[in-house]
Amino acid sequence: MKHSLWRGHVLPFTVLLGLLAAATLAGDFVLHRFNLVWVGRYMGIPGTLLIIGSLYYSLRKRKYVTSGNPKTLLSLHEFSAWLGSLMVLIHAGIHFNAILPWLATVAMGVNVISGMVGKMLLNRAREHVQGEREHFQLRGLSKPEVEQAVFWDAVALGAMAQWRKVHIPIFVVFAVLALGHIVSIFLFWGWV
Ligand code: HEM
Repeated sequence: MKHSLWRGHVLPFTVLLGLLAAATLAGDFVLHRFNLVWVGRYMGIPGTLLIIGSLYYSLRKRKYVTSGNPKTLLSLHEFSAWLGSLMVLIHAGIHFNAILPWLATVAMGVNVISGMVGKMLLNRAREHVQGEREHFQLRGLSKPEVEQAVFWDAVALGAMAQWRKVHIPIFVVFAVLALGHIVSIFLFWGWV
């Protein structure tokens, strides 16, 4: 029933992250090849909108909104944050003029990676504790005995779930930096 650690967790993580890097390089290459660098400049907008859209899941999770299946919304959150980040990465390209947007990009990278690591580590730990429970139940232990036996693993699992909260402060840093960049660009464009 248990996947191997490599196939079940490390491989998907590496593939997803590698795909993000490869798609960024490919997108940047295509834009430069066809003289469409200006498209990249505007790609920051749909990218940002996708990331903002992905926050609907966070509202649903905290019950600020009540419509939508949380499980489906979680998949949508992961997908739209990933795609939005890809667009923003292509948008950032390899131009270095300003420091603020690059700090925002680094914070975004930490955010995406923390989300992915959190998801994958947490899944693995959950599977592990569940597997242990089943194992002890099959051996005929009573319910309190099973809980006793998995106690420390369950505590570790709880600690990992707390670790997930790191994802949110990093997001706040990212949001503040990105907002600074966006407001300064909008001022420059005369949009505000
Ligand atoms: C509404 C959304 C956004 C708009 C309209 C926007 C617009 C722009 C524009 C016009 C530039 C070119 C500045 C220049 O050539 O000096 C730029 C550069 C850049 N943007 Fe954005 N952006 C947006 C969102 C974001 C986000 C969310 C990030 C990162 C998290 C980001 C990261 C960058 C980076 C790294 C650069 C390159 C800076 C450089 O040349 O050194 N942008 N953006």
